[in-house]
Amino acid sequence: MEAVKTGTKKRSELEVLIRARYPLIYVVSWEEQRVMNEIERIAHILGKKVYEWKISNGIARYHSGLGSVEGKKGTKDPILALKEIMEVNEPCIFCLKDFHAFIKDNVVIRTLRDLAIKLRHTYTSVIILSPILEIPQELEKELTIVDFPLPTREDLLELLTQISKELKGNPNFEIDLNSESCDKILDAAVGLTLNEAENVFAKTLVLTGKLTANEAEIIYSEKKQIIRKTGILDYIEPEEDLESVGGLKRLKEWLSKRRLAFSERARAFGLPVPKGVFFLGVQGCGKSLCAKAVANYWALPLLRMDTGKLFSSFVGSSELNVRRAISIAESISPVLLWIDEIDKGFAGLQSSSYSDSGTTARVFGTLITWLQEKEVPVFVIATANDIDVLPPELLRKGRFDEIFFVDLPTFEERIDIFSIHLRKRNRDPADFDLERLSRAAEGFSGAEIEQTIISALYDAFEQETDIDTEMILKSLAETYPLSATMKEKIESTRRWAMGRTRPAS
Ligand SMILES: Nc1ncnc2c1ncn2[C@@H]1O[C@H](COP(=O)(O)OP(=O)(O)O)[C@@H](O)[C@H]1O
Ligand SMILES: [Mg+2]
Repeated sequence: MEAVKTGTKKRSELEVLIRARYPLIYVVSWEEQRVMNEIERIAHILGKKVYEWKISNGIARYHSGLGSVEGKKGTKDPILALKEIMEVNEPCIFCLKDFHAFIKDNVVIRTLRDLAIKLRHTYTSVIILSPILEIPQELEKELTIVDFPLPTREDLLELLTQISKELKGNPNFEIDLNSESCDKILDAAVGLTLNEAENVFAKTLVLTGKLTANEAEIIYSEKKQIIRKTGILDYIEPEEDLESVGGLKRLKEWLSKRRLAFSERARAFGLPVPKGVFFLGVQGCGKSLCAKAVANYWALPLLRMDTGKLFSSFVGSSELNVRRAISIAESISPVLLWIDEIDKGFAGLQSSSYSDSGTTARVFGTLITWLQEKEVPVFVIATANDIDVLPPELLRKGRFDEIFFVDLPTFEERIDIFSIHLRKRNRDPADFDLERLSRAAEGFSGAEIEQTIISALYDAFEQETDIDTEMILKSLAETYPLSATMKEKIESTRRWAMGRTRPAS
């Protein structure tokens, strides 16, 4: 058994695969240089040579100390290059850069399959390195996909130290590396690739001449932009806290019990890191509101994942997107990952399985596996209105710690919701007959209660008076709640939820 640790770090996934002699590995990353460094490190430990292939140069020896080496004649052609690799009989690692562009060719596919068989019993590994994930179905079993993790805080610290060294003695720049400033800068930068971080640091230095705790805000907002560009993640800073949520007492208790569950102290005490929670229930009853409130209550950053876009085949390669989203969330952890209206994503799932050759199903598979196996503190909050379109695997034990059913508010809860929304508009709830309002609002969702108050406010404004109980009652009478039109749907969801979920109130 190999118990010797190599260096202080835990073995990377890539190292494990190379040691286990996986013949074909697909590394998805924008960070070519970091991956090459890692490959070189692994090759050094295992006593292998590294070769790279580029369409522009063909096969050449790779060594960071060597600089660029002229490629072997006649190996620019991807198929000839693969044939060349087939003939090798020394332990080595071949890195095919940007090979995604050629991988759909029939002859390439066949040659790669032959190569996989040939290499299985040798000490040679072939790594396809590309920012784009492109795998023809014929190669799915042959290729092992590796997500190269984003830089750790240590990696980013190294970058920062290096920049600081380079600028030492330059009076125009100030970089503050005392531990508190450094922590803030690194907090703001995690989730970025090394290149992105370098650009953001440079931009900040150009803008302000400084990199100190004060500049963390700038780095943060740059990061938000970069994350937004992924197309499926959004960084949000909600204002809501638990005070803005009416009712849902049991849900709040559950959240409150886990408030400090991400702390070091909780780990030391032996508590497991909470995995996630699922809010199922009637539209407009506070599921999204609660997700936002948790972020403030637990004081954790909140990333919202757009499920519609996640599964849409229009957004470039959705499979890559989900992986990128996961790795961003993991690098920012502890963090809340809010998957809002996950049912909307699945509504398209059934129909799309015909049209996109299983991409959607693979995206779902990736997500499910990650939910099950993730070890880092990324707390997932998923919400859904419609149980009928959800694949049953999603709610199986082990994916979420708890499934809450959020029903229409009860009499008491409606009083609570009226008070919250009146107070929010600077009215004193004590001036209103809340019990009468609540009785009249039977069957109304929280969202609808809020709407009737707003609509009464409009009436009052127009009539140049202030709102009172009567005006809100009038507005209630004019509203036909969704629960009336959706009666059967709500009842069937309620029946499903019984025994399978925990009531939120
Ligand atoms: N329980 C509640 N307490 C206070 N406000 C609520 C409640 N439920 C809904 N609302 C109001 O309705 C809005 C929409 O509710 P939301 O949380 O988006 O519903 P959904 O369950 O469909 O996600 C909220 O932003 C909030 O203003
Ligand atoms: Mg919602």
